[in-house]
Amino acid sequence: MNKHEPMTISNIPYVSEAFFEREKDVWKNSWLMVGREQDIKDNGQFVTIDIKVLGVSIAVLRDGNGELGAFYNICPHRNGRLFCDRMGKKAAIVCRFHGWTFGLDGKLRGVPEQHIFEDLDKNELGLQAVSVDTWGGFIFVNLDPQPAHSMREYMQGVTPGLDAYLTDPRWNWHTGYQHLFNANWKDLMNIQHEGYHATHVHKTTLGLTFGPDECRNTLFENSPGLCSLLTVLNPLGAEELLPNMTPIQNLSMKYGTTANWVEQNTSRPATEVENAVNLGGSDRWIFD
Ligand code: FES
Repeated sequence: MNKHEPMTISNIPYVSEAFFEREKDVWKNSWLMVGREQDIKDNGQFVTIDIKVLGVSIAVLRDGNGELGAFYNICPHRNGRLFCDRMGKKAAIVCRFHGWTFGLDGKLRGVPEQHIFEDLDKNELGLQAVSVDTWGGFIFVNLDPQPAHSMREYMQGVTPGLDAYLTDPRWNWHTGYQHLFNANWKDLMNIQHEGYHATHVHKTTLGLTFGPDECRNTLFENSPGLCSLLTVLNPLGAEELLPNMTPIQNLSMKYGTTANWVEQNTSRPATEVENAVNLGGSDRWIFD
């Protein structure tokens, strides 16, 4: 790009229906996070996810041996929905339409009045499996039954550091929430990959704490899944910054989840997470 060309981007990928149709393929062979392992730690526990862009629902459950399996959430007989809740526990999977019963391993176990079906082979009518994998306590599914890349390969670039972070017992999952809202998902993804906006959009809260020069992007050009890592550093150091902050900025730093470097907010200085999320080991690290 010429240095003097405006750095604008086309809106076609954001609004074009034709582009969107082609883009749906992305969801068919990507690893998609569905929940936490601790959500389904007992045999028979399940979690479901509706992938609305493809019009499919997936159920992930722990079978009688404690192994995770993932299946399309429909009955192979007449496509009845099998799991209606987001989470729960079952001893067996019974379709409410005609009562076909499946084991926790997805195999068809029982067909009421089976004699009315000629040549029915239960071995060929189990639930349709998709790929499932875990990483760092999170559960992921991939609709491709034989994905080209494992979950770990998909996240290459950040896995060594985040492995250390997510397996460190000092860092526990504390709170989670979900909220659905009407938005273009690419806008949300884009802002996670640049910190240029921060001093303007967040000027009344975090705007003082870092500028564009302190937001470093690492690109993973050959990664099959993860395109970049944004690292945000504190430009001034807490001691110089705190006296200049407004009450609102002070509160946002005190209670904000990303301001790890602020002394009053944490007993863990940034350098303690060196080799984990703070890959560069900077004492000015705020977040990745
Ligand atoms: S649709 Fe499930 S048993 Fe018929």
